[in-house]
Amino acid sequence: MEIKAGIFVILGIALLSTGVECIPRRGLSAATVFDITSFGAKPGGKKDSALAMIRTWNKACESTEAAKVVIPEGEFRAGEVVFQGPCTAPKPIVIEIQGTLLADTDLSVFTSNYWVSIEHVDGVEVTGGGTFNGRGEDVWQFDADEKIKNAPLLPVSLVFQNANHSSIHGIKFVNSKGFHMKVSDCSEFSVSKLHISAPGNSPNTDGVHISGSTNVNVTDLVVGTGDDCVSIGDGNTNLLVANVTCGPGHGISIGSLGKREQETDVNGVTVRNCTLIGTSNGARIKTFRASPKLKASSIVFEDLILQNVTNPIIIDQDYGSKSKIEPSNVEISNVHFRNIKGTAAIRKPAITLTCSESVPCKGVELSDIDIVPVEGAKGKLKPNACLNIKAVFKGKSNPGAC
Ligand SMILES: *[C@@H]1O[C@H](CO)[C@@H](O)[C@H](O)[C@H]1NC(C)=O
Ligand SMILES: *[C@@H]1O[C@H](CO)[C@@H](O)[C@H](O)[C@H]1NC(C)=O
Ligand SMILES: *[C@@H]1O[C@H](CO)[C@@H](O)[C@H](O)[C@H]1NC(C)=O
Ligand SMILES: *[C@@H]1O[C@H](CO)[C@@H](O)[C@H](O)[C@H]1NC(C)=O
Ligand SMILES: *[C@@H]1O[C@H](CO)[C@@H](O)[C@H](O)[C@H]1NC(C)=O
Repeated sequence: MEIKAGIFVILGIALLSTGVECIPRRGLSAATVFDITSFGAKPGGKKDSALAMIRTWNKACESTEAAKVVIPEGEFRAGEVVFQGPCTAPKPIVIEIQGTLLADTDLSVFTSNYWVSIEHVDGVEVTGGGTFNGRGEDVWQFDADEKIKNAPLLPVSLVFQNANHSSIHGIKFVNSKGFHMKVSDCSEFSVSKLHISAPGNSPNTDGVHISGSTNVNVTDLVVGTGDDCVSIGDGNTNLLVANVTCGPGHGISIGSLGKREQETDVNGVTVRNCTLIGTSNGARIKTFRASPKLKASSIVFEDLILQNVTNPIIIDQDYGSKSKIEPSNVEISNVHFRNIKGTAAIRKPAITLTCSESVPCKGVELSDIDIVPVEGAKGKLKPNACLNIKAVFKGKSNPGAC
């Protein structure tokens, strides 16, 4: 809504005073500002601001001018929130989070598998230095307790679903209930400058999960959680992960692939210049046994620094239920592990390449690998373990080839 004449201002104030309608502000930038507190959101963490946030988004989305949603300083509690397109506002619609969003701790308010979802929109930019606090510490025990078989699927803090030409940068995430962030079915997407943290023993708190997406960059992150730092699911094409520091957690993983029938191939993943500290894996590709036929190809892990990593380089096609006799049908090819250096815990081999007996790995190259036992380790690294693969070793090769 644009305010041009006095009569509209008066009308606007009249509407505001009834609490029904709100006046968007013009910020210093060209965009019209839609502040959630003008739509009923209240800081302090007591009142639920989900509906106010959705109403704010809807107004920004249907704007005909550049629009910015502002979540100001303060703590805003919210249950499930959906920001849905398509929108008429010119792209990108900016969502500036200055304050902290606090997830509701009552799981029954989450009807889908997310807390905040941004979906079916072309051009969104999430930024502002603010925080998504998932408050998972109150619900993690449901997941950790194996006795509770039908534990609820815990909501992901932020999901981008079918959001193209979009980005998120300069945001913090803490203690998500489920994953911290997911990018699903997106193209031309950039994730950068995020700080993600949850305790090392929190269950399924992956940092960033990407699936079904094309041309995605994930750069300049610091991630410490209880699960994968960056996990790369099925259906991804041309993905770059660079300048990421991980730990604690499970490291950077392609997969697990092949759990579900309808999965699609992974093609073109580069993981470059990342540091992994005290993680259970470094560079990992994992696929399920008895999987559908799939391909994972053109994969590069390069310039990685490892500190005290348990499985520095691992392909595991035996993932999931060991009772399944049928091997994995995910064909892994054209994989390069280059310039990977640092220290390993000595409980597992530095290099484990367990490929499928039905579709052995093809074109796997390891060059300039230099992994030594972590300081203070009592003993040597276990011998490398390779199965159904003829890997090519080039350059420095410590602790040796297969
Ligand atoms: C995003 O891009 C994909 C593939 O390019 C396309 O199928 C989809 O409709 C686009 N979505 C939106 C919301 O523009
Ligand atoms: C990803 O990074 C590459 C260069 O590193 C750049 O050419 C490309 O435009 C970036 N893509 C996105 C979606 O940011
Ligand atoms: C990695 O970080 C360096 C230093 O900040 C920067 O120059 C480079 O562009 C970053 N790489 C990517 C792919 O973002
Ligand atoms: C590698 O990433 C780190 C941050 O994780 C950055 O400081 C450094 O400049 C990057 N180096 C290159 C060559 O991109
Ligand atoms: C390596 O990690 C293990 C836990 O996996 C820890 O007990 C040990 O203290 C670490 N060593 C160093 C030198 O950081």
